[in-house]
This record gives sequence, C-alpha cells and structure tokens, in this order.
Amino acid sequence: MSARYRYALIGTGFFAQNHLHAWAEMPEVELVAVCDVDEERLAAAAAQFGGTPYTDARELLQNEDVDFIDIATTPPTHRMMVELAAEYGVAALCQKPLAWEMADAKAMVDAMEAKNLPFMVHENFRFQYPMRRIKETLDSGAIGRPFFGRMSFRTDYDCYSNQPWLVDSERMIIVDVAVHLFDLARFFIGEPRSLYTEALRVNPRIRGEDVATILMKMDDATVIVDASYETRSDHSTYPQTFVTIEGTEGVIHLGPDYRLQVVSCGEVTEETLKIPDHTWTSEPWNGIQDSVSGVQRHWIECLDTGRTPETSGADTLRLLDITLGAYESLETGLPYRVGSSF
Ligand SMILES: NC(=O)c1ccc[n+]([C@@H]2O[C@H](COP(=O)([O-])OP(=O)(O)OC[C@H]3O[C@@H](n4cnc5c(N)ncnc54)[C@H](O)[C@@H]3O)[C@@H](O)[C@H]2O)c1
Repeated sequence: MSARYRYALIGTGFFAQNHLHAWAEMPEVELVAVCDVDEERLAAAAAQFGGTPYTDARELLQNEDVDFIDIATTPPTHRMMVELAAEYGVAALCQKPLAWEMADAKAMVDAMEAKNLPFMVHENFRFQYPMRRIKETLDSGAIGRPFFGRMSFRTDYDCYSNQPWLVDSERMIIVDVAVHLFDLARFFIGEPRSLYTEALRVNPRIRGEDVATILMKMDDATVIVDASYETRSDHSTYPQTFVTIEGTEGVIHLGPDYRLQVVSCGEVTEETLKIPDHTWTSEPWNGIQDSVSGVQRHWIECLDTGRTPETSGADTLRLLDITLGAYESLETGLPYRVGSSF
C-alpha cells in the first residue's frame, strides 16, 4: 500500500521514539520531516527514521507539504505548535497534556475549528489493549450497569531519569498520570459531575505532588482515581494501570501482570492478557508502546473517514477541566463542580 498521508514529527525526545517506531510500521504514512531544537536528538532521529531535519517548526511548515504534524514536544510549546498547524492549514495530533491552562487549550481548539482541521490529543491510555478489552466487556452488558470504579497507578519506578523535567514541575502526578486515569474513568463510566482531591509530596527532592487520590462522582456511579510514584511492592508492575469496575450483574478486575478477571452473573472467567507484539517494543513499556500504535491507527482511521477522534481537541477540554479541577479542589480543600472552568 502506498502512503496516503505525509507527516512531520515535531519534538524528537524521549516519548517521540515510540511515535516514530509506530508510524514506521504503518504503510499509510510517510515521514517527510523531523524537527527539534536539540540538534543532537534531531540528527539521531533523522538518521534512524529519515525525513528532512529542521530546528524551526515554522520553517518546516513553510518548506514542506504535509497533511499533518505529530507534536511530541513538552506542554509549554503545544499551543505554539497547534497554532502553527492551523496557520498552515494542516491537521494535528498533539501529545497530552494539551495545555496547563484552559485558555491555551481553548485557543488551540478554536484555531483548529476555525479552519475545520482534524485535531486529536495523544491520550493513549484508553488505547491500551487491556482497556479496549474492558470497554468491550462493559459494552456487552456482562456486568450490568456500572456503579463503582477504581483506576489505580501505583509504582516506585524512577520516572525522573527518563523525564527529568518532572522534578521541577510545580504540578506533577495529577497532570502526568492521573489525567490518563480520569480519561479512563470517562471512557468506561461517563462524565463526572464533581470531584474531590487529596494529594501529597512524599519525595522531598521534587517540587510537585507525587501521590494523589481523587474521588469522582458520576450521575449513578462513584470512581476513585489514585496515582503514586512512591509505592513499594514485591515486583515492579510499572507502567501498568489496575482497574476495578463493579456493576449490577458482576465485576471486572484488571490486576498486576495484565490478569483480567470478569465475574458475570456468578460466572467467573480469568485470562492473562497478551499485549500485541511489535518489533520495536519491549517490557515493561510494551503495553504503553502498543497503545501509541492504537492512537495512531485511530487517527488515520479518522482522517480516512472524516470521523471525529475519540480524544479530539474539543473532548480534551472536558478532560483538562477535570484535571485543573483536581488541583483547584486540592488548593481549596473543597469539591470541584466539573465544568466550572469553561
Ligand atoms: N502519553 C504518554 O504515555 C506519555 C509518556 C511520556 C511523555 N508523554 C508526553 O510527551 C511529551 C514529551 O515528553 P518527553 O518526556 O518525550 O519530553 P522530552 O523533553 O524528552 O522531549 C521533548 C522534545 O521536544 C523538543 N522541543 C522543545 N521545544 C521545541 C521547539 N520549540 N521546537 C522543536 N522541538 C522542541 C526538546 O528539545 C525535546 O527533544 C509531553 O507532553 C509528555 O507529557 C506522554
């Protein structure tokens, strides 16, 4: 199959390596250019994956004919990059978190909507294979109507070696991890109406919070989101998310090492899920790496069909409102009414 879409990758850092590998196995896309302000990283990406190297994204868009850009820079540059995409009339896929402020996120959504350009946020946890399996089980009605959920990510993995910028982030685990769990809660159970946060900084060497628990109230359900970078355990399960969903007819548990148990009307099924293999993935990252492929396949399907992406820019405003609301609740000590920020 020949490539249908020409793309440029902006930001060739740590996580972008997964993007580049995942695109490389998709015949629908062709890498036209890569961009990074760090010339060493840029040269390494261009040497391995091809594409004309640029240190300036505007220059890239001026010179190259691309259908979309894939933005894998850190959040402070996301708005600038998305606005550049809108200015040059190209679609954009942008890494999460889209922004740290609602005004920035809205400006990005408005800029892309004004030009009627496809815009998706790389919110990948719902594209993890186990999460798609849980969603299928829920949609089959096997556990009835869900009324309780828990999305949990607890580890003592040293996330700071790969992502040193997290050490100085004033806002840390809620924006880095809980954001994904909020999205899972929405994906599985629906939109929250209010939420309440408790959080701590356990590691004194970092600036932000590294342990957080958020209680979310949906119309007919309660969900606990909890995340920690300071949890010791018998063996590392990083970067796995554990899920429990209780329904009127049964329960779903996704536990350590991808063990999925479904109790449906008294009948129990158990399975150790096998994450789809790729030549470039490796444990313990494979679950997350495979979800990058899932995001990218969904993006291409949306471009092909004109469908709105599940995690569109506009959808992400809701997720950002929840994330910012979690910090507001932490600061005020009061529940946050979801939707107050937009
Ligand atoms: N979805 C996930 O599971 C997941 C996991 C890790 C990181 N992320 C996200 O990926 C993004 C990148 O994180 P990272 O850890 O790879 O960061 P990183 O610092 O390793 O990479 C970012 C790259 O962007 C480049 N850059 C910065 N400003 C630029 C500019 N103006 N023009 C061109 N290049 C520029 C930097 O030089 C760097 O190489 C973040 O938004 C982060 O939240 C997502």
